[in-house]
Amino acid sequence: MAQTTKTATLTFENKQVELPIHSPTAGPDVLDIRKLYAQGGVFTYDPGYTSTASCDSAITFIDGDEGILLHRGYPIDQLAEKSHFLEVCYLLLYGELPTADVLEDFESRVTKHTMIHEQMHMFFRGFRRDAHPMATMVGVVGAMSAFYHDSTDVSDPWQREVASIRLLAKMPTIAAMAYKYSVGQPSVYPRNDLDYASNFLRMCFAVPAEDYEVDPILSRAMDRILTLHADHEQNASTSTVRLASSSGANPFACIAAGIACLWGPAHGGANQAALEMLREIGTVDQIPEFIRRAKDKDDPFRLMGFGHRVYKNFDPRAKVMKQSADEVLDLLGIENNETLKVAKELEKIALEDPYFVEKKLYPNVDFYSGIILDAMGFPTSMFTPIFAVARTVGWVSQWKEMIADPAMKIGRPRQLYTGPTYRDYVDVENR
Ligand code: CMC
Repeated sequence: MAQTTKTATLTFENKQVELPIHSPTAGPDVLDIRKLYAQGGVFTYDPGYTSTASCDSAITFIDGDEGILLHRGYPIDQLAEKSHFLEVCYLLLYGELPTADVLEDFESRVTKHTMIHEQMHMFFRGFRRDAHPMATMVGVVGAMSAFYHDSTDVSDPWQREVASIRLLAKMPTIAAMAYKYSVGQPSVYPRNDLDYASNFLRMCFAVPAEDYEVDPILSRAMDRILTLHADHEQNASTSTVRLASSSGANPFACIAAGIACLWGPAHGGANQAALEMLREIGTVDQIPEFIRRAKDKDDPFRLMGFGHRVYKNFDPRAKVMKQSADEVLDLLGIENNETLKVAKELEKIALEDPYFVEKKLYPNVDFYSGIILDAMGFPTSMFTPIFAVARTVGWVSQWKEMIADPAMKIGRPRQLYTGPTYRDYVDVENR
């Protein structure tokens, strides 16, 4: 619980407004400006929310200066090493690590909801074959609202629970089906005897003519990718889900909004963009030219997979991801292909270059995840859908937390208006 023991006084134009200061359990104090307009007649201005806490939350904590990421207090490196994705999902959703029995029950509930309504298969056929799988996912997840009417009343905690499990369980099936459709192969039904990550890999890579034996190391690597992307407090897509849901809209449509936001290259789309950039760079001797372009103010090019709004230190997820990349490449016998050489050299040069050092631009999680997914056989267009599969639990946890909060209000920012002031309409013949 946040404590409120201090106040700040804002003085301007002969007015004085007392603003409560909340002290969180971790992180910087927060100035409460909710009464500012009523008492002072002014708004605050913060495009991009660089200094604004949009909600209170007990799920995830990031210390960007120290490079720390905690889920319900547990550090991400410990979770990535000792836990697994579904256990982390339970932790995010319900706040505590489960006992063995509780975990078994949770896993069984998720596993038994992995199939999608058979009629939903028709949606896939409506998309062009070359549609990006994210486009397909936005459409199909939104369409879930038309199929699961018994879990769309957000005022009912039980329906919220059912919607949460459905989203978590069906997202890998939908992502795998979007992929299969895009490569012209029949979709593969989920199998209840496989764990979450293995099931997803099999749905992506098995074909009716030949089953897919899931390598435990690849399954572990996929599970780790999912774990590392599970939640990241109030990022753009999570804030989108919160804002969309604040009107009471149905959960499937709100998660579809989150998927749409995640797709952008500044957010989840960066993993696809990062690998495509490495390929475009092509060879190590081209790196200086791309570094030069990244530093040029007149060139919109940025080093994809570098920089973060919150981390001004090494992204703790990137550290684990880098280690995972080494393991997977080792297993697959990929020693030093050209893309990997470019990635390693680029990382080295950027970490030493004064521009990147001064601006605290470190490699982020997306820099390494693409290398692993590429080695596993995924095309770049599947990188962001896999991020969406992982982030679903974060979106759902934050959505549940918000809806259950009695203080929840519709999200409705104000603006700094810069358009014309009042003017009378002019008839068309007089313009
Ligand atoms: N390459 C070159 N310069 C950069 C980069 C980059 N990747 N990122 C930031 N900068 C510069 C930027 O030009 C600016 O310079 P100046 O102060 O001289 O104008 C300064 O660093 C601060 O950048 P910003 O755009 O104000 O910072 P932001 O917090 O608004 O943006 C970011 C954060 C992640 C959008 C940005 O770093 C970026 O575009 N990175 C590349 C895309 C990427 O990898 N995104 C994945 C983020 S991690 C996964 C996720 O959250 O989805």
